[in-house]
Amino acid sequence: MSPLPKPLVGRVAIVTGAARGIGLAAVRRLVADGASVLAFDQAGADMSAALSAASGAAQVVDYRGDVSREDDWARAVDVALALTGKIDILFNNAGISGGFENVLDYPPEQFDRVIAVNVRGVFLGMQHVGRVMQSQGSGVIVNASSVSGFGGGTGAIFAFVTSKFAVNGMTKAAAATLAKFGVRVLAICPCPTETEMMFQVERKYSPDNPAAARPGLSQGIPLGRYCKPEEIADVLAFLVSDQAAFMTGALIPVDGGVLAK
Ligand SMILES: NC(=O)c1ccc[n+]([C@@H]2O[C@H](COP(=O)([O-])OP(=O)(O)OC[C@H]3O[C@@H](n4cnc5c(N)ncnc54)[C@H](O)[C@@H]3O)[C@@H](O)[C@H]2O)c1
Repeated sequence: MSPLPKPLVGRVAIVTGAARGIGLAAVRRLVADGASVLAFDQAGADMSAALSAASGAAQVVDYRGDVSREDDWARAVDVALALTGKIDILFNNAGISGGFENVLDYPPEQFDRVIAVNVRGVFLGMQHVGRVMQSQGSGVIVNASSVSGFGGGTGAIFAFVTSKFAVNGMTKAAAATLAKFGVRVLAICPCPTETEMMFQVERKYSPDNPAAARPGLSQGIPLGRYCKPEEIADVLAFLVSDQAAFMTGALIPVDGGVLAK
């Protein structure tokens, strides 16, 4: 029996925050499904593992840039278009957690940086890549939001919560605008996920034994554990595929039931 055809063969994707965590899992999955990927990160990325999963003509291009900078987006679009002349997929994933203070104590400079990366970065990506998709008459954008985009929680990650509410709003506003051009816009909303972002939280709560913080941090997740980055990449792979052709404007929890409570 011949293997199933890869669903994303010939597609070109940009993934931000691609050097590690959810972004790296997304690059691996998209490449394994046949897409070529511009791996956009401010840090250098070792993409050899992702490349080894690539098949056929799929390519992975390591691209250094800061998502909060407009010139870095303009250049990223040029580099992506140089691959095959189109951009089919944008995973606007780069994000930072910021500080753990509440509204009363949050340092304003840190607030500005969280908004610059998590909100301005997502906006610039949708604007620059959205214009290309508008002229193509096709494309799909998936923004990384969070369960923190639905409630204030303990209020201890004030700027992060603020930024993810904004991502949810931008996702819906852009989806409503871009639908007539054949461009879909969605958001994935994870709960705590096994990446450096959560490992930092564990180190904050339990500096001597970070792993000891995990049961407490998992307590509010009905499925009883963190999400794995690959589980988010699985949902992403579906959302950017033709099987999700009639989905736009949705905020998709990948949260082990957190928002079901
Ligand atoms: N890990 C979680 O528990 C969790 C939960 C909910 C939502 N999210 C969201 O998922 C996304 C990915 O998170 P992660 O856990 O993989 O994070 P991570 O910290 O492990 O990785 C983030 C990546 O983004 C890159 N990055 C940061 N700022 C950048 C910038 N200005 N320009 C370009 N690249 C930049 C970093 O270099 C890093 O490679 C984020 O938007 C995050 O808010 C994560």
